[in-house]
This record gives sequence, structure tokens and C-alpha cells, in this order.
Amino acid sequence: MKGIILAGGAGSRLYPLTLVASKQLQPVYDKPMVYYPLTTLIEGGVREICLISTPQDLPRFRQLLGDGSRFGLTIDYREQAKPEGIAQAFLIAESFIGQDAVTLILGDNIFYGGDVFTRAFGEFKGGATIFGYHVHDPERYGVVEFDAAGKAVSIEEKPKLPKSNYAVPGLYIYDNEVVAITKNLKPSARGELEITAVNVEYLRRGALRVQRLPRGFAWLDAGTSSSLHEASAYVQTIEKRAGIKIGCPEEAAFHSRIVSLAQLEAIVGEMPNCEYRSYLETEVVAEAKRLLK
Ligand code: TTP
Repeated sequence: MKGIILAGGAGSRLYPLTLVASKQLQPVYDKPMVYYPLTTLIEGGVREICLISTPQDLPRFRQLLGDGSRFGLTIDYREQAKPEGIAQAFLIAESFIGQDAVTLILGDNIFYGGDVFTRAFGEFKGGATIFGYHVHDPERYGVVEFDAAGKAVSIEEKPKLPKSNYAVPGLYIYDNEVVAITKNLKPSARGELEITAVNVEYLRRGALRVQRLPRGFAWLDAGTSSSLHEASAYVQTIEKRAGIKIGCPEEAAFHSRIVSLAQLEAIVGEMPNCEYRSYLETEVVAEAKRLLK
């Protein structure tokens, strides 16, 4: 399974923060926003990642994440010249996807709790798998309607009158057909290649699986000033209470066994003295050594 992190867009709702740095580089509590979706992919076993962003912001992402080897990954970078829709990612990344299945995660979506995605990646056989999450403001999102048997029957993008409270979060899994499906899409009234149109096509083909995310699961999107603040507060609350970090790609890479203890120690050794470093030293490296004894 290949992975795409889509981290472009206009970020207009976060103006003036986004005048000089993209939305997905803004801090969510103690780390850049893109660390969270990156960690979700690493935890899910995705090892080849393509990060898509704007021509202005791409150099910053390269500076932050490098070639990915620090996290046991390969990271390719591709430009999206204009924000012409989420589904455009599949055209931009066509050569990266090759003949494989692909998961797309939005760079401003933060997920926490359980291994739903890891299992979904492992169980994926074909078609498309997307998710449904109960929200109070579904009209801001793609909305999925279920029948009495729990089967998805419709998906609508930002409907004025939503048919349910289930929004589609920004993590989608597709087979290789997604490239051909996207090539046949026409831009919507707002001039975008809509991810909802891709999902509708899979639904029409009878190849769409919509999995409802459990209540204990957190999905935050950090696209407005207040949701950014709430996401930071959420992360701080959990991290303080539990003494763990959410969205720490070095830790996820070590736990996924794609980075060895020796490699992790070397990576940590290059970090400046800071809370992030001391967390990795005490909670991850020292703890692993203790367990090895
Ligand atoms: P949005 O939050 O819908 O859009 P935006 O980031 O441009 O922000 P705003 O509405 O405030 O101007 O996008 C959701 C995510 O998808 C976000 O991480 C940006 C990304 N995106 C792209 O990278 N390219 C695109 O063409 C679109 C539409 C979104």
C-alpha cells in the first residue's frame, strides 16, 4: 500500500498564519501538524509516501522530513500548482502509485485511538474503503447516508440538508482503479476534482465500503483557528495525562520495527535538548532497553 499525504490547499481560513507557512506546518501543540497524519501512515504499515504541496511550501516540507529515512520511509515530493481538488492528488502522484493500492490522508486531519486504520489497510482487498464519523456539523463535509442494514446508500459533498450526521474523514483507501476514475472526472461547480465524486463512483460500482469509526475514536481537523486551538488542547490533555506523545513519527517507526533501537538512538542524539528529545530518550529508548534486560 502506497501513501499520499495531501498538504497543499489555500489555507485561507487560517490567514494570516498561512501567509508565510502552510497550514500543515503550523504547530498542533508540540509538533508540526503534518507529523500526525505521517504517524498514522507509519502506524498503519505504509512505507512509501508521496507528499503533495504547493510550489512555495514544498521546500519547507523537504527540510522538515527529508528523504524519510529518519522514519524508515521513502518520501517523494510532488507539486500541486493550484488547489484544484483533493482527487487531483491521484493524477499528480500517478507514477508514484504505479500499479499499487493507495491511501490518501489529508495533511490537516488528526486521528487518535485504536488500530482501525492499521486493520483496514491489512484487510483491504480492492475497491475503496472510507470511513464515517459522527459529527454535529456534517454540512461542512462529505456526508454518508446508511440504510437500516448499515450499508452506505448515498454520499453528498457539503449538503445543505445532510441525510445523516456521518461525515467522511480525510483518510481514504483505494485500489489502483482510482487513477482511471479520477481521469474521467469533470471539475465540480467550484472547479475542483472532488474526492466525493470518486467515492460516489465506487459506490455506483458496488465497490465502496464505509466503515463507521467507533465512538472512542478521535478525529480532529485543524483547518480553522478554533479547530487548530482545540486540536492543540486535545493533544496537550492526552499527552499530559498519559505521559505519551500523539503523532510522534520517530516513536511510531521504532514500534513498527522499521527503525532499530541503534538507529533511533542516533537520530535522537542529533536533536537539540528539548522536551521532544527527552521524551524519546526516557519513554522510548530507555524503556526499550529496560525491556530488553
Ligand atoms: P480544505 O481545508 O478544504 O481547504 P484549504 O486547506 O485550502 O483551506 P481553506 O478552505 O481555509 O482555504 O482542504 C482540506 C485538505 O486538503 C487540506 O489539508 C488541504 C488539502 N488540499 C490540497 O492539498 N489541495 C487541494 O486542491 C484541496 C482542495 C485541498
